[in-house]
Amino acid sequence: MTENCEGAGTGPQRSAVRSVPELPPGVVPARVRSFVRRGRFSALTRDRLERLGPAWSLPEGPFEPEVTFGRVAPVVLEIGCGHGAAAIAYAAEFPSRDMLAMDVHSPGLARMLADAADAGLPNLRIETGDVVEFLESRVAPGTFDAAHLFFPDPWPKRKHAKRRFVNPVNLDLLVSVLRPDGHVLVATDQNFYADHVRAEVATHPRWAAYDIERPTWRPTAGFEAKGRAAGRRISELRLDLLADPQPRQD
Ligand SMILES: C[S@@+](CC[C@H](N)C(=O)[O-])C[C@H]1O[C@@H](n2cnc3c(N)ncnc32)[C@H](O)[C@@H]1O
Repeated sequence: MTENCEGAGTGPQRSAVRSVPELPPGVVPARVRSFVRRGRFSALTRDRLERLGPAWSLPEGPFEPEVTFGRVAPVVLEIGCGHGAAAIAYAAEFPSRDMLAMDVHSPGLARMLADAADAGLPNLRIETGDVVEFLESRVAPGTFDAAHLFFPDPWPKRKHAKRRFVNPVNLDLLVSVLRPDGHVLVATDQNFYADHVRAEVATHPRWAAYDIERPTWRPTAGFEAKGRAAGRRISELRLDLLADPQPRQD
């Protein structure tokens, strides 16, 4: 993948990106977002969001998995699920676990809603919005067993690097919302992004990164297929939450 999902916006979005202030290296304010919003929805998107959205989204207020899913089970968060093929496949493959898939991009979620309605999975919920805001404001510590971050926007330009989802602020946030033995799966078709994740993890006291095999349940279509077709390597990383803080590599 060479472009961000939220790629070529028109005037207002582009000026929103340009307005991000330059900061010294390593300084990542929480308000820098890992995405830009796009404006207009098609009639099909609007119809799917209005017709299907309410049944699949979370009740307002604090996220309470036992209330939402009606049981006690491991809960997994997918960060930036796009049109949701991976989250739907995961929920189908692991009916004993609950999956919350989130994205800010409504057209992708609208398509996902249609696929989820066809699949009829009781262990899946689909929420629109910024994952960071959600985790900060509606999620209790130790809520999730795992998080999935598949093909995150790579933000290849140096001036946009502060928008990459894997950064010290978000790694701290994930420490707080995951259970003590939690983990994060990351996949990317950009070598520089895989190196970026390894480097961020190496300087964080609570995470360790490992190269792993590709999860067999994840569909190959989408960014993975495009990356392979373009001759790019797919990096699969597992970030494990460490019980004992490790000294940072400076
Ligand atoms: C490159 S796309 C990949 C989508 C999907 N994971 C896939 O593999 O097809 C990255 C997605 O992350 C979403 N995203 C980025 N930052 C986000 C955030 N803070 N909260 C929710 N979604 C986010 C974008 O809207 C975009 O849909």
